[in-house]
Amino acid sequence: MLQIGEKPAAISIDEFRSRQRRLMSQLRPDDLLIICPNMESTRSNDVHYPYRSSSDMLYLSGWKDPESILTAHNDGKSWIVTLFVQPKDTLKEIWEGRREGVEGALKGWAIDFAHSIEDASTLLAQMIAKANRILHRSGINSLVDNMVNDAIERRDRGRQQFGNGPISIEDPSAKIAELRLRKSAAEISQMRHASQISSLAHEISMRHSAVGRREYQLQSVIEGFFSYAGTSGWAYPSIVGCGENATVLHYTVNDDICQDGEIILIDAGAEYNGYAADITRSWPINGKFTTPQKEIYQLVLNAQLAAIDECRVGRPYNAPHEAARKILAEGLIELGIITQTLDEALCMENGQLRMWYMHNTGHWIGLDVHDVGIYKPNGEARLLEEGMCLTVEPGLYFGAWRPDIDCPERYANIGIRIEDDVLVTSTGPDVLTKDCPKTILDLESLIGKDFE
Ligand code: GLY
Ligand code: MN
Ligand code: MN
Repeated sequence: MLQIGEKPAAISIDEFRSRQRRLMSQLRPDDLLIICPNMESTRSNDVHYPYRSSSDMLYLSGWKDPESILTAHNDGKSWIVTLFVQPKDTLKEIWEGRREGVEGALKGWAIDFAHSIEDASTLLAQMIAKANRILHRSGINSLVDNMVNDAIERRDRGRQQFGNGPISIEDPSAKIAELRLRKSAAEISQMRHASQISSLAHEISMRHSAVGRREYQLQSVIEGFFSYAGTSGWAYPSIVGCGENATVLHYTVNDDICQDGEIILIDAGAEYNGYAADITRSWPINGKFTTPQKEIYQLVLNAQLAAIDECRVGRPYNAPHEAARKILAEGLIELGIITQTLDEALCMENGQLRMWYMHNTGHWIGLDVHDVGIYKPNGEARLLEEGMCLTVEPGLYFGAWRPDIDCPERYANIGIRIEDDVLVTSTGPDVLTKDCPKTILDLESLIGKDFE
């Protein structure tokens, strides 16, 4: 039976306030912080792409609607957070859906003041004129970019008259990214929920696997379950590739027929309350690994388990990658696929490992599937801390179609990636996606089998 875990508690107003406070403690009193959501985007006449706000807007306020702006300024005593929102408008609401409006925004959100977005250009210009530094990321929202640029153009007059006005614009993203890198308990609950649903979705697609299925049919059961389980859908377009398509890292065509003897690779994850899951599993479409498939699968799994074990407080962020690379290289030497010594194989310039393993072993994950956070602050590998979340996703890809390599016949068109999402805790790695089956025995017992 499908067991969807209980929904986690929503992120509280207190938590948003605390995130805002931590950011503002790094600002100067004459700063103006401006956070914009993404603009809506047209897909075709009268049809928009599904809207998603910017992750920084979600992080600092949880506000999900388009046409909004969050600002923070200091009135000399304390920081004031203001949200500009779409105003109530019955005609628009009849067509597009209900709006919170200014009154709604003031009731349930971590803000001090709310205004209609229609007043933004006037009020924002007044705020900008009083600030000496504007913290704004350009390129996300051209309407707000224009307001900021206009104010900068007018600054000389303002400075001459009143002695203030913006003299610099800085991007606050790096400050916010540093906060977002360490996840709170409430964020981890959202991510665990996204991970549990995504794990179950993968299991459903394993059970639904059979020779002759189209890749998009497996995609549809996964993504259908994302919706069924109450997520907002995929966190990134699903990769569903059988046979040689499993050896194309970002394959998203997903329309081939799965043939007997092929491996299917599925990289798919749901987004819940803005937070991403990112899972890859690979299995034989007919339910039984061949010996060559087993050899490669077990090698990737060994590399993944060793890499997960490196996700510990105090270890460099790239320790999982180095652990995975070593095990993969040793294994490929043993299988006779790599003909170099271990040191030669691991060399980034001409090591043979890169022929079969050409990507990194992971990335931060959170509100963005490739989440923000500098990997090498000041050029030094960041050490992992409690609350950081990263993916661990080694793979091996034997694309027989590639003209640049001589693919060993025995492993032709085997593409294996195994990806989990891992939280670093004081007691070791906590695999958020641990419910997703990955041993050869577990996979073989599930593939093609209905739920009982
Ligand atoms: N799903 C994209 C990635 O694994 O990075
Ligand atoms: Mn990933
Ligand atoms: Mn992935």
